[in-house]
This record gives sequence, C-alpha cells and structure tokens, in this order.
Amino acid sequence: QKENGLKANAEFPIGTAIKIETLNADFELQDLQKSNFNSITSASDMKMNRIIESEGVYNWSRIDGILNYAQNNNQRLFGHNLIWHSSTPKWVEEKALKDTLWLAGFMKDYITTYVGRYKGKVAGWDVVNEAFESAGGAMRETIWYSVMGKDYIAKAFTYAHEADPNAVLFYNDFNIERDTLKLNATLKLIEDLREKNIPIHGLGFQMHIRMDIPDEVIANALKKAADTGLKIHLSEVDIIFNTHNDTQYGGEQIYTELTDDMKKAQAEKYKNLVIMYRSIVPKAQQYGITFWDFTDRDSWIDGFFSITDWPTIYDDNLQPKPAYFGVLEGL
Ligand code: XIL
Repeated sequence: QKENGLKANAEFPIGTAIKIETLNADFELQDLQKSNFNSITSASDMKMNRIIESEGVYNWSRIDGILNYAQNNNQRLFGHNLIWHSSTPKWVEEKALKDTLWLAGFMKDYITTYVGRYKGKVAGWDVVNEAFESAGGAMRETIWYSVMGKDYIAKAFTYAHEADPNAVLFYNDFNIERDTLKLNATLKLIEDLREKNIPIHGLGFQMHIRMDIPDEVIANALKKAADTGLKIHLSEVDIIFNTHNDTQYGGEQIYTELTDDMKKAQAEKYKNLVIMYRSIVPKAQQYGITFWDFTDRDSWIDGFFSITDWPTIYDDNLQPKPAYFGVLEGL
C-alpha cells in the first residue's frame, strides 16, 4: 500500500540534510532523494564558515546550486544555520576579541545580506543553533555570548525577520528531548523572547538520539514544547546504538555489527518517533521531520565521533533498512 517513497505518505514536509557535493556526484542518491523528500537542508554549505571564509569575501555559489536543485525538484529549502559557535570562522572570533564593538555590526550585516539575498527562496532558518551547553541549562560561552551578551539571540532573530518577514524562524538545539533542564532553559529563553515581541516561530529538536533514550521521555519533551504553540521541527533526526561524547570526538564502540535484532529495534524506534510527532504535535505546528543524512554510507556520525554506527534509514549500499519501513509505517 505505502509505496512511492516517504513524502507521498507524509502529511507534513519530510526532509533530509545532505552534503551537496555528495548529492551532485551521485545520481543514484539523487533519485532516492527526489523520490523520498520534499524538503532539503544543506549539511554544511549554508554555515557561516562556508559562506564568508575571509572578511568581505562571500561565496554564494554553493548555495545557489542547492537552491537550484530544490527549486527544480519542488523541494523546500531550509536554511541551516545563521549563528552557530561551531561554524563561526576563526577570523570572526579573532576580530571580535580585538574589537568587541565590531561583532554586533557584523552580525547585522551578515544576516541582513544573507537572508535578504534568499528572501522568499529559503522557507525557514535555524537562526541560532546550540546556544546552550550540551547538558543542563547554562548558556554556552560562545564568542557571540561573551562579546554581545544574551541579547545576541534576540538581535539575530530581529535581523532575520527584517530581512525576510515571511521566513519561519527557529531556535535549534540537541539533547532537549532527553535533558529536562536544557529543555526548560530553552523554553524559558523562547518565552522571554516572545514577551519582548522578538519574532521567533519555532523550535527545532535536532533529535540525534540513541536507542536507549526512552520513548516516553521524548514524548514528554515534545508535549511540553508543543504546548507553547510553536512550530516544531525534528530537524536532524538520526538514531545510533553506540554512545559518544556529544560534541567531543570519540565514542564508545559497544556494538560492532548491526544484527537483525538491532535492525528491527531501530525500525521500531524510528516508527515510534514518527508516530509521537504526528500524535503529539498539532498539525498546524508540524514543520516537518528532517533526517540528518539518509544513508549510513554518508552519515556524519562515524567520521565525527570516530565510531562505527548505523544511524540512518538506508544502508551503505543505498538499500532501504528496516528503519526506512519503520518510518513509512509510522507516517
Ligand atoms: C555536521 C555535519 O553533518 C558535518 O558534515 C560537519 O562536519 C559538522 O556538522 N548539529 C548540527 C549540524 O546542528 O550542523 C551538525 O552537522 C551536526 C550536529
């Protein structure tokens, strides 16, 4: 019954992040991408360090390529991201430390130029990514926070909204599905922003999860977030078996091969996640589910954390895993 790929069966946008050079080089991957997804996020090329590698030099060509692909294939292009400590170029950090007054102006200029250039073409943005520490409710000591104070977040949203009033603006973070302190701090931040009439429309749950994160924990977090009325985007979904150290390199290789039982369990987990999203987040708030890479071959996990894992819905040979059918069943 459920054929024709994921998107044909979804009542909300269904997306994937992908490395654009991988996509461009591989027609088989493109076919799978086109048949399954109607939303696309660039895994790297829309980040600050790719766009403005050195001062005054913007490189838009890669983004124009992604935009072209999205438009030709009727896909929503989602912008990831505007402000993130991890993709802030070295030269920006160095300059900001020498001349602290410069950073706010740079931010305004960057966001205005970038969002303005893609006005009406990029549907939504992760305006600020990962402003909190990996665990708990403390703000992350990024260059933005230490130079501009907490207000950097409000400013970023304001500039983005001014540049494209129709774009849907998100705050995006990880572990908020499992860490109550972090979720509460995030929701408090958003509440404060809205009280000041700062334009923020949605919350992105990155949802890089692990098999042992209980579904009930995830359900509670989704419910709490959905109760705010915000749009909810599962923005970077993948599900791993082994543990890793959040943002540091290195993980613990507990599972060395993917057994049939593990495949089944992962399919169940994917299915439950989709069902929870559909049943807990009201329709009008469903911005969509985006997978972070959709093949194990291309997933960022192994390289980033130096482990071997099987996080996605397609295997190394671009064959759909039970996880794929789990998602399909859940839709
Ligand atoms: C990752 C990309 O997938 C990698 O290719 C890159 O080397 C590092 O960034 N949280 C995020 C994403 O918000 O931007 C990260 O993407 C994964 C974690």
